[in-house]
Amino acid sequence: MTFDTRDHNGRMTHFDQHDSFWLFGYGSLIWKADFPFLERKPAWIDHWSRRFWQGSHDHRGIPSAPGRVVTLISERGARCDGMAYRIEPSLLQQLDMREKNGYLRELVPIHFSPTSSVDGLIYLATPDNDAFLGEAPLARMAEQIAQAQGPSGSNRDYLLNLEQALRELGASDHHVSALASLMSDYK
Ligand code: SIN
Repeated sequence: MTFDTRDHNGRMTHFDQHDSFWLFGYGSLIWKADFPFLERKPAWIDHWSRRFWQGSHDHRGIPSAPGRVVTLISERGARCDGMAYRIEPSLLQQLDMREKNGYLRELVPIHFSPTSSVDGLIYLATPDNDAFLGEAPLARMAEQIAQAQGPSGSNRDYLLNLEQALRELGASDHHVSALASLMSDYK
């Protein structure tokens, strides 16, 4: 049912010899930074859009009733705002564990300003992973998010925490705010 990416990610050695490198978070990694980092700052990546298209069987849902969490969809001209963390490579095992349900490490340019960027890492869930749910009508996605619960808490909290974190960053994301505004339809 689930696609455990830990072995695959463990074979990626790109930053092993670095003292530190940058990780870009666009979902729970924005608002739930429960890991040691050396520095963090708001950042963005280009040509990616955030979407609630990845299934969560291990954090915000269960195998028989998965939740929906974010992944990124390639989209020319799009911009995805988030938070970048400078971390040590020894942290990757812990992050691979957290992101094991379909997310692969991927290298991308991370922008801090129009004139400052660095190659860093994201965790990306692509459509070929078994937990990928893909697009659905907004109301159906909202209903699923409103109902799903998993070991890390409610799927609703994941969405609302993300919406609040993006607001605090001054970032607008229509997909996230449209789903968040539908949460008041469910108690
Ligand atoms: C991320 O936050 O960058 C990845 C997706 C998630 O863990 O919510």
